[in-house]
Amino acid sequence: MFAKSQRPIGLVTLIFFLFLYPASAADHKVIFDTDFVIPPQDDGLALIFALHSPEIEILGITTVAGNDSRERATSDVLRVLEIANREEIPVFNGANMPLVHEKSDFATTGHGKWWSDAPPPPPPGGFAKKQAETTSAVDFIVKTVRENPGEITILAIGPLTNIAMAIRQEPGFAERVKQLVIMGGAIARLPDGGGNVTPNAEFNFWVDPEAAKVVLRSGIPIILSPLNVSRKAVFTKEWYEKLVQADTPLTRLIKERMEPYYEKYPDINLLMYDQLAVATLIDLTLFKMKELYVDVDINHGLNYGVSVGGERLWPGAEGAQKMQVQYDLDWERFINLYIERMTKPVPARD
Ligand code: RIB
Ligand code: CA
Repeated sequence: MFAKSQRPIGLVTLIFFLFLYPASAADHKVIFDTDFVIPPQDDGLALIFALHSPEIEILGITTVAGNDSRERATSDVLRVLEIANREEIPVFNGANMPLVHEKSDFATTGHGKWWSDAPPPPPPGGFAKKQAETTSAVDFIVKTVRENPGEITILAIGPLTNIAMAIRQEPGFAERVKQLVIMGGAIARLPDGGGNVTPNAEFNFWVDPEAAKVVLRSGIPIILSPLNVSRKAVFTKEWYEKLVQADTPLTRLIKERMEPYYEKYPDINLLMYDQLAVATLIDLTLFKMKELYVDVDINHGLNYGVSVGGERLWPGAEGAQKMQVQYDLDWERFINLYIERMTKPVPARD
């Protein structure tokens, strides 16, 4: 007979694990930080991917200026949550501009309207009834991490302004974050490492280089998903047609938004930048990674916003941190996982 203290698992405990423990306890409690725009923007597709993945519990969505204005990001994400029947997920307004980077003629000539103060266009079906929370994104991020030390994953798929502000606002914040998965940067020394805004700078890091530098040097455990691996994930029309064979409110939204694109640009191929960052939390074995020191150039010159990776520190990178850097992808396993998740039915309203 076991002493009381050594009695096998108690009846109450047994009942809890048999009937009460959430069967679908997610692997990752996630703050989803995004420069969101509805599909075909990758942030819009990445959110749907995450919503349909039981490995990920989205605690809240924080918006930041990037692909478009912060206002557009918030307006679009509220509407997609309504279409997805996921209004319970709170949305928090984040930074409306980068820390230092100002609007420039160059910035207005390429992708991105992070500098815009124009009112957002109505999303498909009109503006959402759901409203953003009154708490700011940074206060939500700081409070959630403070109250759940060592448990929170931040998925950052836009400029890193909100994360840098949280690091600066809250002493001890970086030590309490479990991990940070970042879509951003480009590593010239690895294959496919050129930039997509300037010759060597990637968009998220280029919009807010100062924030990227603060975040990469914070000491938070980081998995970086740079353009090197984004370029291994090319979403073609063949896969689009497989996706829209399913008939759900979300695949109908994707079809409504992408059909005109394919009519105008029938051969368009879209890189799945942010979807790979989400896949990182679903199945890390999809990726090949290297551990590198990574730093960002914040000098306002020809390399503004350029990320540099190296196996050992180099002059000018003193203080840079090591991180896991993705450089290759098991495409077949990834794209089949993606299509399976994206075509799931939308949960019924409670
Ligand atoms: O460079 C690609 C990244 O910039 C993606 O996250 C895209 O959504 C934009 O934010
Ligand atoms: Ca993005």
